[in-house]
Amino acid sequence: MPVRRLLAISDLHLTHRHNRQALLSLPSYGADWLICAGDVGDSLADLAFAWDLLIPRFDRVIWVPGNHELWCREDLAQADHGRGADRYARLVELCQAYGVLTPEDPYPLFVGRGGPARILPTFTLYDYSFRPPEVAADQVTAWAWEHGIRARDEDLLHPHPYATREQWCHARVAQTEARLSTLPDEPGVKRILVNHWPLRDDLVRIPKVPRYRPWCGTTRTEDWHTRFRLDVVVTGHLHVRATDWRDGTRFEEVSLGYPRQWGEGREIAHYLREVLRDEPAPPGGRGGPDWQRWR
Ligand SMILES: [Fe+2]
Ligand SMILES: [Fe+2]
Repeated sequence: MPVRRLLAISDLHLTHRHNRQALLSLPSYGADWLICAGDVGDSLADLAFAWDLLIPRFDRVIWVPGNHELWCREDLAQADHGRGADRYARLVELCQAYGVLTPEDPYPLFVGRGGPARILPTFTLYDYSFRPPEVAADQVTAWAWEHGIRARDEDLLHPHPYATREQWCHARVAQTEARLSTLPDEPGVKRILVNHWPLRDDLVRIPKVPRYRPWCGTTRTEDWHTRFRLDVVVTGHLHVRATDWRDGTRFEEVSLGYPRQWGEGREIAHYLREVLRDEPAPPGGRGGPDWQRWR
């Protein structure tokens, strides 16, 4: 019997034809589980394409939403798929119809190599709190615009029924904290949290677009790794693949990214990261700022 592995990838961005074509050549992984940490694509059709392809290749698929799935792109005839929380509900419905686990499902127990582990898929969004202290909250988009940065979320990611994306974020954070707080103690069972956006500001490393930072998360999740005793946190969104350690928790950024951000002769299979691999501690110990960049 082959050993079951827990694999992860995010930011497949299947709206791009190149990524879509590349996914077609993914082999079958038998008993392995796959985490898709958001930005699968910009449309419900992209999501359906992914599940049609991935469901037969993995024993189980787990998904959390990214900002791209939440976009309402009129050019992709998305108007009938709802806005904001309604759209999120549609996405969850579609995943559940395929048997894909979402943040709205019971937290599954992974049993296999490196496990057992409780997997915690979450959806938290961002609230513009990842910004330098001297930039006021109401100045943050102007500050980003000084460098020509304006996230497309501003036009395409509706917060409905909330007035703002911050309010939606805060509601999601509160709801998720309430759920994580009631997790039972399971001795010997690891905890793996999955979210599209990074949990901590100090993990946002985007040298090419540093002022995109406000759209990358919320400081309200800064201590979740210690507070909820997480062993591994799997995220995407940054399109900068990395492994970091904070306070004994391993943070994995598992993005594929846009066509120009991966490849160089490698197939998508190369980017599936094993979450529960035996990871040696970095030279500076497991608390430090050491990080590993993945090519
Ligand atoms: Fe992305
Ligand atoms: Fe994203």
